[in-house]
Amino acid sequence: MSENLRLPAYQALTKHFEQNKQMSLRQLFEKDPQRFQKMSLLLEDMLLDFSKNLITDETLQLLCQWAQEARLADKREALFQGQKINFSQHRAVLHTALRNRTETPIIVDGKNIMPEINEVLEKMKIFSDLVRSGMWKGYTGHAIQNVVNIGIGGSDLGPKMAVEALRDYQPSSLTFHFVSNVDKRDLERVLETCQPDNTLFLIASKTFTTQETMINARSARKWLTDALGEDAVKNHFVAMSTNIEAVREFGIDERNSFAFWDFVGGRFSVWGAVGLSLMIAIGYDNFIQFLEGACEMDRHFYREPFEKNAPVILGLLSLWYSLFYKAESAAVLPYDEGLKYLPAYLQQIEMESNGKDVDAQRQDVTYPTGVVVFGETGTNGQHSFYQLLHQGTHLIPCDFIVPINRIEADPEHQLPLLANALAQSEALMRGKTAEELRQEQVPEDEIPFRCFKGNHPSNSILIEQLTPKALGRLMALYEHKVFVVGAMLNIDSFDQWGVELGKQLAKKILPELQAGTTPAKHDASTQGQIDFVKAQLR
Ligand code: F6P
Repeated sequence: MSENLRLPAYQALTKHFEQNKQMSLRQLFEKDPQRFQKMSLLLEDMLLDFSKNLITDETLQLLCQWAQEARLADKREALFQGQKINFSQHRAVLHTALRNRTETPIIVDGKNIMPEINEVLEKMKIFSDLVRSGMWKGYTGHAIQNVVNIGIGGSDLGPKMAVEALRDYQPSSLTFHFVSNVDKRDLERVLETCQPDNTLFLIASKTFTTQETMINARSARKWLTDALGEDAVKNHFVAMSTNIEAVREFGIDERNSFAFWDFVGGRFSVWGAVGLSLMIAIGYDNFIQFLEGACEMDRHFYREPFEKNAPVILGLLSLWYSLFYKAESAAVLPYDEGLKYLPAYLQQIEMESNGKDVDAQRQDVTYPTGVVVFGETGTNGQHSFYQLLHQGTHLIPCDFIVPINRIEADPEHQLPLLANALAQSEALMRGKTAEELRQEQVPEDEIPFRCFKGNHPSNSILIEQLTPKALGRLMALYEHKVFVVGAMLNIDSFDQWGVELGKQLAKKILPELQAGTTPAKHDASTQGQIDFVKAQLR
Protein backbone atom coordinates (compact mmCIF):
# COMPACT_ATOMS: atom_id res chain seq x y z
CA MET A 1 0.00 0.00 0.00
CA SER A 2 1.28 3.48 -0.79
CA GLU A 3 2.60 5.33 2.21
CA ASN A 4 0.07 8.07 1.41
CA LEU A 5 -2.73 5.65 2.17
CA ARG A 6 -1.23 4.99 5.60
CA LEU A 7 -1.18 8.64 6.64
CA PRO A 8 -3.27 9.68 9.67
CA ALA A 9 -5.51 11.94 7.57
CA TYR A 10 -6.23 9.06 5.21
CA GLN A 11 -7.22 6.89 8.15
CA ALA A 12 -9.44 9.72 9.36
CA LEU A 13 -10.97 9.99 5.88
CA THR A 14 -11.70 6.26 5.88
CA LYS A 15 -13.57 6.58 9.16
CA HIS A 16 -15.32 9.73 7.99
CA PHE A 17 -16.42 7.98 4.81
CA GLU A 18 -17.90 5.05 6.73
CA GLN A 19 -19.86 7.44 8.93
CA ASN A 20 -21.05 9.74 6.16
CA LYS A 21 -21.28 7.71 2.96
CA GLN A 22 -25.09 7.86 2.98
CA MET A 23 -25.06 11.66 3.01
CA SER A 24 -27.81 13.31 0.98
CA LEU A 25 -26.94 16.27 -1.20
CA ARG A 26 -30.49 17.60 -0.97
CA GLN A 27 -30.26 17.64 2.80
CA LEU A 28 -26.78 19.15 2.79
CA PHE A 29 -28.07 22.05 0.70
CA GLU A 30 -31.16 22.44 2.89
CA LYS A 31 -29.09 22.46 6.07
CA ASP A 32 -26.46 24.93 4.91
CA PRO A 33 -27.61 28.01 2.94
CA GLN A 34 -23.95 29.00 2.56
CA ARG A 35 -22.92 25.76 0.90
CA PHE A 36 -22.59 27.23 -2.60
CA GLN A 37 -20.57 30.21 -1.33
CA LYS A 38 -18.31 27.92 0.66
CA MET A 39 -17.84 25.36 -2.07
CA SER A 40 -17.23 27.47 -5.13
CA LEU A 41 -14.29 29.45 -6.40
CA LEU A 42 -14.19 32.42 -8.70
CA LEU A 43 -11.06 32.53 -10.86
CA GLU A 44 -11.26 35.67 -12.95
CA ASP A 45 -14.25 34.99 -15.18
CA MET A 46 -14.45 31.27 -14.40
CA LEU A 47 -16.69 29.90 -11.68
CA LEU A 48 -15.87 26.48 -10.29
CA ASP A 49 -18.90 25.22 -8.39
CA PHE A 50 -18.04 22.04 -6.50
CA SER A 51 -20.90 22.27 -4.01
CA LYS A 52 -22.83 19.42 -5.69
CA ASN A 53 -20.30 16.87 -4.48
CA LEU A 54 -20.82 14.19 -1.86
CA ILE A 55 -18.77 16.05 0.70
CA THR A 56 -19.22 17.97 3.90
CA ASP A 57 -17.02 20.76 5.22
CA GLU A 58 -15.23 18.10 7.20
CA THR A 59 -14.59 15.97 4.10
CA LEU A 60 -12.95 18.90 2.40
CA GLN A 61 -10.90 19.73 5.42
CA LEU A 62 -9.73 16.10 5.78
CA LEU A 63 -8.90 15.82 2.08
CA CYS A 64 -6.78 18.97 2.30
CA GLN A 65 -5.13 17.70 5.47
CA TRP A 66 -4.33 14.46 3.66
CA ALA A 67 -2.70 16.48 0.86
CA GLN A 68 -0.63 18.36 3.47
CA GLU A 69 0.51 15.14 5.11
CA ALA A 70 1.36 13.65 1.71
CA ARG A 71 3.59 16.69 1.10
CA LEU A 72 1.76 17.65 -2.04
CA ALA A 73 3.27 21.13 -1.77
CA ASP A 74 6.78 19.66 -2.04
CA LYS A 75 5.78 17.67 -5.10
CA ARG A 76 4.29 20.75 -6.66
CA GLU A 77 7.50 22.62 -5.93
CA ALA A 78 9.48 19.82 -7.61
CA LEU A 79 7.27 20.12 -10.70
CA PHE A 80 7.77 23.86 -11.07
CA GLN A 81 11.46 23.71 -10.20
CA GLY A 82 12.18 21.25 -12.99
CA GLN A 83 13.16 18.30 -10.83
CA LYS A 84 13.12 15.00 -12.68
CA ILE A 85 9.69 13.94 -11.49
CA ASN A 86 9.18 11.79 -14.58
CA PHE A 87 11.42 9.34 -12.76
CA SER A 88 10.93 6.39 -15.10
CA GLN A 89 12.37 8.46 -17.94
CA HIS A 90 14.66 10.61 -15.78
CA ARG A 91 13.09 13.77 -17.16
CA ALA A 92 11.91 17.09 -15.83
CA VAL A 93 8.28 17.98 -16.55
CA LEU A 94 8.25 21.57 -17.66
CA HIS A 95 5.40 22.27 -20.02
CA THR A 96 4.75 25.10 -17.55
CA ALA A 97 7.96 26.73 -18.85
CA LEU A 98 6.43 26.97 -22.34
CA ARG A 99 3.79 29.30 -20.91
CA ASN A 100 5.97 31.08 -18.40
CA ARG A 101 5.02 34.69 -19.12
CA THR A 102 7.12 36.02 -16.26
CA GLU A 103 10.77 37.05 -16.29
CA THR A 104 11.66 34.18 -13.95
CA PRO A 105 14.41 31.95 -15.36
CA ILE A 106 13.76 28.20 -15.34
CA ILE A 107 16.78 26.03 -14.92
CA VAL A 108 17.20 22.52 -16.31
CA ASP A 109 20.56 20.77 -15.91
CA GLY A 110 22.13 24.05 -14.85
CA LYS A 111 20.86 25.99 -17.87
CA ASN A 112 18.12 28.62 -18.16
CA ILE A 113 15.73 27.19 -20.74
CA MET A 114 13.65 30.35 -21.21
CA PRO A 115 15.79 31.97 -23.98
CA GLU A 116 15.44 28.86 -26.19
CA ILE A 117 11.70 28.65 -25.51
CA ASN A 118 11.21 32.31 -26.39
CA GLU A 119 13.31 31.90 -29.53
CA VAL A 120 10.99 29.15 -30.79
CA LEU A 121 7.97 31.25 -29.89
CA GLU A 122 9.40 34.13 -31.93
CA LYS A 123 10.09 31.81 -34.87
CA MET A 124 6.48 30.57 -34.65
CA LYS A 125 5.29 34.18 -34.63
CA ILE A 126 7.18 35.06 -37.80
CA PHE A 127 6.01 31.94 -39.58
CA SER A 128 2.37 32.17 -38.49
CA ASP A 129 2.23 35.88 -39.45
CA LEU A 130 3.53 35.00 -42.93
CA VAL A 131 0.95 32.25 -43.42
CA ARG A 132 -1.95 34.31 -42.06
CA SER A 133 -1.07 37.35 -44.15
CA GLY A 134 -0.77 35.28 -47.34
CA MET A 135 2.91 36.19 -47.67
CA TRP A 136 4.05 32.60 -47.22
CA LYS A 137 3.68 31.26 -50.73
CA GLY A 138 3.24 27.74 -51.94
CA TYR A 139 5.62 26.49 -54.62
CA THR A 140 3.51 27.90 -57.45
CA GLY A 141 3.06 31.28 -55.78
CA HIS A 142 -0.37 30.68 -54.24
CA ALA A 143 -1.11 31.77 -50.70
CA ILE A 144 -1.87 28.98 -48.23
CA GLN A 145 -5.55 28.16 -47.76
CA ASN A 146 -5.39 24.73 -46.10
CA VAL A 147 -3.32 23.90 -43.05
CA VAL A 148 -3.06 20.17 -42.36
CA ASN A 149 -1.63 19.05 -39.02
CA ILE A 150 -0.36 15.48 -39.20
CA GLY A 151 0.30 13.98 -35.77
CA ILE A 152 -1.22 11.60 -33.25
CA GLY A 153 -1.89 11.51 -29.49
CA GLY A 154 -0.54 14.66 -27.91
CA SER A 155 0.66 15.88 -31.29
CA ASP A 156 -2.95 15.95 -32.44
CA LEU A 157 -5.47 16.08 -29.60
CA GLY A 158 -4.39 19.35 -27.94
CA PRO A 159 -4.11 21.47 -31.09
CA LYS A 160 -7.18 19.87 -32.69
CA MET A 161 -9.28 20.53 -29.60
CA ALA A 162 -8.03 24.11 -29.19
CA VAL A 163 -8.36 25.03 -32.89
CA GLU A 164 -11.96 23.79 -32.87
CA ALA A 165 -12.72 25.53 -29.57
CA LEU A 166 -11.42 28.87 -30.86
CA ARG A 167 -12.97 28.72 -34.32
CA ASP A 168 -14.57 32.14 -33.77
CA TYR A 169 -11.08 33.68 -33.68
CA GLN A 170 -9.96 32.32 -37.05
CA PRO A 171 -9.70 34.04 -40.43
CA SER A 172 -12.05 32.76 -43.11
CA SER A 173 -9.15 32.56 -45.60
CA LEU A 174 -7.71 29.48 -43.85
CA THR A 175 -9.14 26.02 -43.24
CA PHE A 176 -7.60 23.73 -40.64
CA HIS A 177 -7.48 19.95 -40.86
CA PHE A 178 -6.13 17.27 -38.54
CA VAL A 179 -4.97 13.85 -39.67
CA SER A 180 -3.94 11.27 -37.09
CA ASN A 181 -5.10 7.75 -37.94
CA VAL A 182 -2.92 5.51 -40.07
CA ASP A 183 -6.17 4.40 -41.72
CA LYS A 184 -5.76 6.11 -45.08
CA ARG A 185 -9.33 7.32 -45.07
CA ASP A 186 -8.31 9.91 -42.51
CA LEU A 187 -5.78 11.48 -44.86
CA GLU A 188 -7.90 10.97 -47.98
CA ARG A 189 -10.90 12.67 -46.36
CA VAL A 190 -8.74 15.77 -45.93
CA LEU A 191 -6.82 15.68 -49.21
CA GLU A 192 -10.07 15.43 -51.17
CA THR A 193 -10.85 18.97 -50.04
CA CYS A 194 -7.36 20.43 -50.63
CA GLN A 195 -5.28 21.59 -53.62
CA PRO A 196 -1.53 20.87 -53.53
CA ASP A 197 -0.56 24.42 -54.40
CA ASN A 198 -2.38 26.01 -51.45
CA THR A 199 -1.86 23.34 -48.78
CA LEU A 200 0.62 23.48 -45.93
CA PHE A 201 1.47 20.33 -43.95
CA LEU A 202 2.59 20.62 -40.35
CA ILE A 203 4.21 17.36 -39.26
CA ALA A 204 3.92 17.22 -35.48
CA SER A 205 5.81 14.46 -33.72
CA LYS A 206 7.93 14.69 -30.62
CA THR A 207 9.98 11.66 -31.64
CA PHE A 208 9.50 11.93 -35.41
CA THR A 209 9.43 8.14 -35.49
CA THR A 210 5.76 7.46 -34.68
CA GLN A 211 4.56 4.97 -37.28
CA GLU A 212 1.15 6.52 -37.98
CA THR A 213 2.53 10.03 -38.36
CA MET A 214 5.44 9.01 -40.53
CA ILE A 215 3.25 6.96 -42.88
CA ASN A 216 0.74 9.81 -43.19
CA ALA A 217 3.53 12.35 -43.69
CA ARG A 218 5.10 10.25 -46.46
CA SER A 219 1.75 9.82 -48.21
CA ALA A 220 1.05 13.54 -47.96
CA ARG A 221 4.48 14.24 -49.34
CA LYS A 222 3.88 11.90 -52.28
CA TRP A 223 0.52 13.59 -52.97
CA LEU A 224 2.30 16.91 -53.08
CA THR A 225 5.38 15.91 -55.06
CA ASP A 226 3.32 13.93 -57.60
CA ALA A 227 1.59 17.21 -58.38
CA LEU A 228 4.35 19.77 -57.91
CA GLY A 229 7.71 17.91 -57.82
CA GLU A 230 10.30 17.36 -55.08
CA ASP A 231 11.37 20.96 -54.94
CA ALA A 232 7.96 21.96 -53.60
CA VAL A 233 8.50 20.24 -50.23
CA LYS A 234 10.26 23.25 -48.71
CA ASN A 235 7.25 25.49 -49.34
CA HIS A 236 4.63 23.01 -48.15
CA PHE A 237 6.11 21.05 -45.24
CA VAL A 238 7.15 22.18 -41.80
CA ALA A 239 7.90 20.07 -38.72
CA MET A 240 7.50 20.36 -34.98
CA SER A 241 9.73 17.93 -33.14
CA THR A 242 12.46 17.28 -30.60
CA ASN A 243 14.25 15.14 -33.20
CA ILE A 244 15.74 17.64 -35.63
CA GLU A 245 17.98 14.95 -37.16
CA ALA A 246 14.97 12.88 -38.27
CA VAL A 247 13.22 16.01 -39.53
CA ARG A 248 16.22 16.73 -41.74
CA GLU A 249 16.28 13.15 -43.00
CA PHE A 250 12.63 13.48 -43.98
CA GLY A 251 13.68 16.38 -46.20
CA ILE A 252 12.28 19.28 -44.21
CA ASP A 253 14.46 22.33 -44.11
CA GLU A 254 15.77 23.14 -40.62
CA ARG A 255 14.53 26.70 -41.13
CA ASN A 256 11.04 25.23 -41.35
CA SER A 257 11.29 23.17 -38.21
CA PHE A 258 10.17 24.18 -34.74
CA ALA A 259 11.88 22.59 -31.79
CA PHE A 260 10.78 21.44 -28.39
CA TRP A 261 12.46 19.40 -25.72
CA ASP A 262 12.34 16.21 -23.71
CA PHE A 263 11.06 18.06 -20.68
CA VAL A 264 7.77 18.57 -22.56
CA GLY A 265 5.56 15.47 -22.61
CA GLY A 266 3.63 14.82 -25.83
CA ARG A 267 0.24 15.30 -24.20
CA PHE A 268 1.38 18.64 -22.76
CA SER A 269 3.03 19.94 -25.91
CA VAL A 270 0.34 22.24 -27.33
CA TRP A 271 1.85 25.17 -25.40
CA GLY A 272 4.91 25.23 -27.65
CA ALA A 273 5.82 24.20 -31.20
CA VAL A 274 3.02 21.61 -31.41
CA GLY A 275 0.64 24.55 -31.01
CA LEU A 276 1.76 25.98 -34.36
CA SER A 277 -1.56 25.16 -36.05
CA LEU A 278 -3.32 26.98 -33.22
CA MET A 279 -1.05 30.01 -33.54
CA ILE A 280 -1.70 30.14 -37.28
CA ALA A 281 -5.42 29.79 -36.59
CA ILE A 282 -5.85 32.45 -33.92
CA GLY A 283 -2.77 34.63 -34.46
CA TYR A 284 0.22 35.29 -32.24
CA ASP A 285 -1.51 37.76 -29.88
CA ASN A 286 -4.35 35.37 -29.15
CA PHE A 287 -1.89 32.51 -28.73
CA ILE A 288 -0.10 34.60 -26.11
CA GLN A 289 -3.45 35.10 -24.38
CA PHE A 290 -3.88 31.31 -24.43
CA LEU A 291 -0.47 30.97 -22.73
CA GLU A 292 -1.36 33.79 -20.29
CA GLY A 293 -4.50 31.93 -19.23
CA ALA A 294 -2.51 28.79 -18.52
CA CYS A 295 0.20 30.79 -16.76
CA GLU A 296 -2.45 32.35 -14.51
CA MET A 297 -3.65 28.87 -13.62
CA ASP A 298 -0.04 27.84 -12.91
CA ARG A 299 0.29 30.76 -10.51
CA HIS A 300 -3.03 29.92 -8.88
CA PHE A 301 -2.01 26.29 -8.46
CA TYR A 302 1.42 27.24 -7.13
CA ARG A 303 0.28 29.86 -4.62
CA GLU A 304 -3.19 29.23 -3.33
CA PRO A 305 -3.84 27.27 -0.14
CA PHE A 306 -5.24 23.83 -0.87
CA GLU A 307 -8.79 24.64 0.25
CA LYS A 308 -8.95 27.49 -2.29
CA ASN A 309 -6.93 25.80 -5.01
CA ALA A 310 -9.02 24.67 -7.99
CA PRO A 311 -6.72 21.91 -9.36
CA VAL A 312 -6.09 20.60 -5.84
CA ILE A 313 -9.80 20.48 -5.08
CA LEU A 314 -10.67 18.78 -8.39
CA GLY A 315 -7.86 16.26 -7.90
CA LEU A 316 -8.84 15.46 -4.31
CA LEU A 317 -12.50 15.09 -5.24
CA SER A 318 -11.56 12.70 -8.01
CA LEU A 319 -9.59 10.63 -5.45
CA TRP A 320 -12.47 10.80 -2.96
CA TYR A 321 -14.70 9.09 -5.51
CA SER A 322 -12.20 6.57 -6.85
CA LEU A 323 -10.66 5.49 -3.54
CA PHE A 324 -13.72 5.63 -1.30
CA TYR A 325 -16.81 5.34 -3.48
CA LYS A 326 -14.92 3.05 -5.91
CA ALA A 327 -15.97 5.14 -8.90
CA GLU A 328 -14.24 3.84 -12.02
CA SER A 329 -15.23 6.49 -14.51
CA ALA A 330 -15.83 10.20 -14.89
CA ALA A 331 -17.83 12.14 -17.44
CA VAL A 332 -16.77 15.37 -19.14
CA LEU A 333 -19.81 17.22 -20.43
CA PRO A 334 -19.06 20.41 -22.33
CA TYR A 335 -22.04 22.58 -23.27
CA ASP A 336 -20.35 24.11 -26.29
CA GLU A 337 -20.01 22.49 -29.69
CA GLY A 338 -16.56 24.08 -29.96
CA LEU A 339 -15.46 21.81 -27.11
CA LYS A 340 -16.49 18.63 -28.88
CA TYR A 341 -12.93 17.29 -28.76
CA LEU A 342 -12.44 18.14 -25.08
CA PRO A 343 -13.46 14.66 -23.84
CA ALA A 344 -10.94 13.01 -26.21
CA TYR A 345 -8.22 15.46 -25.18
CA LEU A 346 -8.92 14.87 -21.49
CA GLN A 347 -8.97 11.12 -22.04
CA GLN A 348 -5.30 11.28 -22.97
CA ILE A 349 -4.44 13.80 -20.24
CA GLU A 350 -6.09 11.73 -17.53
CA MET A 351 -5.78 8.14 -18.70
CA GLU A 352 -2.32 8.18 -20.25
CA SER A 353 -1.06 10.05 -17.20
CA ASN A 354 -2.61 8.11 -14.37
CA GLY A 355 -3.36 4.64 -15.72
CA LYS A 356 -0.34 3.12 -13.95
CA ASP A 357 0.06 -0.13 -12.03
CA VAL A 358 3.43 0.52 -10.39
CA ASP A 359 4.24 3.21 -7.84
CA ALA A 360 7.28 5.44 -7.40
CA GLN A 361 9.02 2.71 -5.39
CA ARG A 362 8.54 0.31 -8.32
CA GLN A 363 5.97 -1.69 -6.35
CA ASP A 364 2.67 -2.90 -7.75
CA VAL A 365 -0.07 -0.56 -6.63
CA THR A 366 -2.81 -2.02 -4.46
CA TYR A 367 -5.37 0.72 -5.08
CA PRO A 368 -7.17 1.96 -8.18
CA THR A 369 -5.34 4.45 -10.38
CA GLY A 370 -6.91 6.58 -13.07
CA VAL A 371 -10.51 6.58 -14.15
CA VAL A 372 -12.20 5.92 -17.46
CA VAL A 373 -12.96 9.33 -18.90
CA PHE A 374 -15.73 9.71 -21.41
CA GLY A 375 -18.01 12.44 -22.55
CA GLU A 376 -19.94 14.21 -25.22
CA THR A 377 -21.18 17.69 -25.83
CA GLY A 378 -24.45 18.72 -24.30
CA THR A 379 -27.16 18.35 -25.37
CA ASN A 380 -26.19 15.37 -27.55
CA GLY A 381 -25.08 13.31 -24.57
CA GLN A 382 -28.43 13.90 -22.90
CA HIS A 383 -30.10 11.94 -25.67
CA SER A 384 -27.71 9.02 -25.45
CA PHE A 385 -25.90 8.05 -22.24
CA TYR A 386 -27.32 10.45 -19.63
CA GLN A 387 -30.01 7.86 -18.88
CA LEU A 388 -27.32 5.81 -17.16
CA LEU A 389 -26.02 8.87 -15.31
CA HIS A 390 -29.49 9.53 -13.90
CA GLN A 391 -30.86 6.07 -13.24
CA GLY A 392 -27.95 3.67 -13.70
CA THR A 393 -26.27 1.96 -10.78
CA HIS A 394 -22.74 3.35 -11.24
CA LEU A 395 -21.42 6.36 -9.44
CA ILE A 396 -20.07 8.59 -12.22
CA PRO A 397 -18.88 12.04 -11.16
CA CYS A 398 -19.62 14.57 -13.90
CA ASP A 399 -17.89 17.78 -14.91
CA PHE A 400 -20.17 20.25 -16.67
CA ILE A 401 -18.22 22.80 -18.67
CA VAL A 402 -20.37 25.72 -19.65
CA PRO A 403 -19.16 28.77 -21.59
CA ILE A 404 -21.90 31.38 -21.23
CA ASN A 405 -21.41 33.88 -24.06
CA ARG A 406 -20.13 33.51 -27.56
CA ILE A 407 -19.27 35.98 -30.24
CA GLU A 408 -22.57 36.55 -32.03
CA ALA A 409 -24.58 34.03 -30.03
CA ASP A 410 -28.18 33.51 -31.04
CA PRO A 411 -30.28 33.57 -27.84
CA GLU A 412 -32.78 31.21 -29.51
CA HIS A 413 -30.08 28.55 -29.27
CA GLN A 414 -27.78 29.75 -26.52
CA LEU A 415 -30.36 30.11 -23.76
CA PRO A 416 -31.83 26.61 -24.20
CA LEU A 417 -28.28 25.26 -24.26
CA LEU A 418 -27.44 27.01 -20.98
CA ALA A 419 -30.76 26.04 -19.41
CA ASN A 420 -30.06 22.39 -20.21
CA ALA A 421 -26.59 22.55 -18.68
CA LEU A 422 -27.88 24.05 -15.45
CA ALA A 423 -30.85 21.69 -15.33
CA GLN A 424 -28.77 18.56 -15.72
CA SER A 425 -26.56 19.15 -12.70
CA GLU A 426 -29.65 20.10 -10.70
CA ALA A 427 -31.49 16.95 -11.81
CA LEU A 428 -28.51 14.71 -11.04
CA MET A 429 -28.26 16.20 -7.57
CA ARG A 430 -31.95 16.52 -6.62
CA GLY A 431 -33.45 13.47 -8.24
CA LYS A 432 -37.20 13.04 -7.92
CA THR A 433 -39.01 11.23 -5.14
CA ALA A 434 -42.10 9.02 -5.28
CA GLU A 435 -43.93 11.67 -3.28
CA GLU A 436 -43.14 14.33 -5.85
CA LEU A 437 -44.37 12.02 -8.61
CA ARG A 438 -47.62 11.35 -6.75
CA GLN A 439 -48.23 15.07 -6.51
CA GLU A 440 -47.93 15.14 -10.30
CA GLN A 441 -50.62 12.42 -10.51
CA VAL A 442 -48.21 9.87 -11.97
CA PRO A 443 -49.93 6.43 -12.00
CA GLU A 444 -48.78 4.34 -9.04
CA ASP A 445 -47.48 1.45 -11.18
CA GLU A 446 -45.18 3.82 -13.09
CA ILE A 447 -43.70 5.49 -10.04
CA PRO A 448 -40.77 3.09 -9.48
CA PHE A 449 -39.62 3.59 -13.08
CA ARG A 450 -39.96 7.33 -12.96
CA CYS A 451 -38.20 7.93 -9.63
CA PHE A 452 -34.76 9.51 -9.71
CA LYS A 453 -32.62 8.68 -6.71
CA GLY A 454 -30.47 11.76 -7.35
CA ASN A 455 -27.43 12.38 -5.16
CA HIS A 456 -25.18 12.14 -8.24
CA PRO A 457 -22.13 14.36 -7.80
CA SER A 458 -20.93 16.95 -10.27
CA ASN A 459 -18.65 19.93 -10.70
CA SER A 460 -19.70 22.83 -12.86
CA ILE A 461 -17.20 25.09 -14.53
CA LEU A 462 -18.95 28.17 -15.85
CA ILE A 463 -16.90 30.41 -18.12
CA GLU A 464 -17.93 33.92 -19.11
CA GLN A 465 -16.75 33.29 -22.69
CA LEU A 466 -14.46 30.73 -24.25
CA THR A 467 -11.67 33.15 -25.13
CA PRO A 468 -8.10 31.98 -25.82
CA LYS A 469 -7.23 32.98 -22.26
CA ALA A 470 -10.17 31.08 -20.76
CA LEU A 471 -9.31 27.99 -22.77
CA GLY A 472 -5.68 28.12 -21.61
CA ARG A 473 -6.87 28.42 -18.03
CA LEU A 474 -9.27 25.50 -18.40
CA MET A 475 -6.68 23.18 -19.95
CA ALA A 476 -4.05 24.01 -17.32
CA LEU A 477 -6.67 23.40 -14.62
CA TYR A 478 -7.11 19.83 -15.81
CA GLU A 479 -3.38 19.26 -16.32
CA HIS A 480 -2.72 20.22 -12.71
CA LYS A 481 -5.69 18.24 -11.45
CA VAL A 482 -4.16 15.15 -13.07
CA PHE A 483 -0.80 15.99 -11.48
CA VAL A 484 -2.45 16.20 -8.05
CA VAL A 485 -4.09 12.79 -8.50
CA GLY A 486 -0.82 11.18 -9.62
CA ALA A 487 1.19 12.82 -6.83
CA MET A 488 -1.26 11.66 -4.17
CA LEU A 489 -1.27 8.14 -5.61
CA ASN A 490 2.53 8.16 -5.69
CA ILE A 491 2.76 7.21 -9.37
CA ASP A 492 4.63 8.65 -12.35
CA SER A 493 1.99 10.66 -14.24
CA PHE A 494 4.41 11.61 -16.99
CA ASP A 495 5.49 8.41 -18.70
CA GLN A 496 3.39 6.18 -20.96
CA TRP A 497 5.15 2.83 -21.18
CA GLY A 498 1.76 1.16 -21.43
CA VAL A 499 1.43 2.10 -25.09
CA GLU A 500 4.71 0.46 -26.09
CA LEU A 501 3.93 -3.26 -26.12
CA GLY A 502 1.15 -2.98 -28.68
CA LYS A 503 3.41 -0.87 -30.91
CA GLN A 504 6.20 -3.48 -30.71
CA LEU A 505 3.90 -6.38 -31.50
CA ALA A 506 2.36 -4.51 -34.44
CA LYS A 507 5.87 -4.13 -35.83
CA LYS A 508 6.33 -7.90 -35.61
CA ILE A 509 2.97 -8.70 -37.19
CA LEU A 510 3.35 -6.24 -40.07
CA PRO A 511 5.97 -8.30 -41.96
CA GLU A 512 3.87 -11.40 -41.38
CA LEU A 513 1.03 -9.75 -43.26
CA GLN A 514 3.44 -8.90 -46.05
CA ALA A 515 4.18 -11.96 -48.18
CA GLY A 516 7.13 -14.28 -47.70
CA THR A 517 8.20 -13.66 -44.10
CA THR A 518 8.60 -16.27 -41.40
CA PRO A 519 5.84 -15.97 -38.84
CA ALA A 520 6.78 -15.23 -35.23
CA LYS A 521 5.31 -17.35 -32.45
CA HIS A 522 1.83 -16.26 -31.38
CA ASP A 523 -0.94 -17.64 -29.23
CA ALA A 524 -3.57 -19.63 -31.11
CA SER A 525 -6.07 -16.77 -31.17
CA THR A 526 -3.69 -14.18 -32.60
CA GLN A 527 -2.30 -16.72 -35.06
CA GLY A 528 -5.83 -17.67 -36.12
CA GLN A 529 -6.63 -14.02 -36.76
CA ILE A 530 -3.39 -13.45 -38.69
CA ASP A 531 -4.16 -16.48 -40.87
CA PHE A 532 -7.71 -15.26 -41.47
CA VAL A 533 -6.53 -11.76 -42.41
CA LYS A 534 -3.89 -13.18 -44.77
CA ALA A 535 -6.44 -15.44 -46.42
CA GLN A 536 -8.87 -12.55 -46.92
CA LEU A 537 -6.34 -9.86 -47.92
CA ARG A 538 -6.60 -8.79 -51.55
O1 F6P B 1 1.43 6.56 -28.06
C1 F6P B 1 1.81 7.36 -27.05
C2 F6P B 1 2.51 8.60 -27.47
O2 F6P B 1 3.84 8.51 -27.13
C3 F6P B 1 1.85 9.82 -26.82
O3 F6P B 1 2.22 10.02 -25.53
C4 F6P B 1 2.22 10.88 -27.77
O4 F6P B 1 1.44 12.00 -27.55
C5 F6P B 1 1.98 10.19 -29.08
O5 F6P B 1 2.41 8.87 -28.86
C6 F6P B 1 2.67 10.78 -30.27
O6 F6P B 1 4.05 10.74 -30.17
P1 F6P B 1 4.96 11.63 -31.09
O7 F6P B 1 4.62 13.04 -30.82
O8 F6P B 1 6.36 11.28 -30.72
O9 F6P B 1 4.67 11.26 -32.53
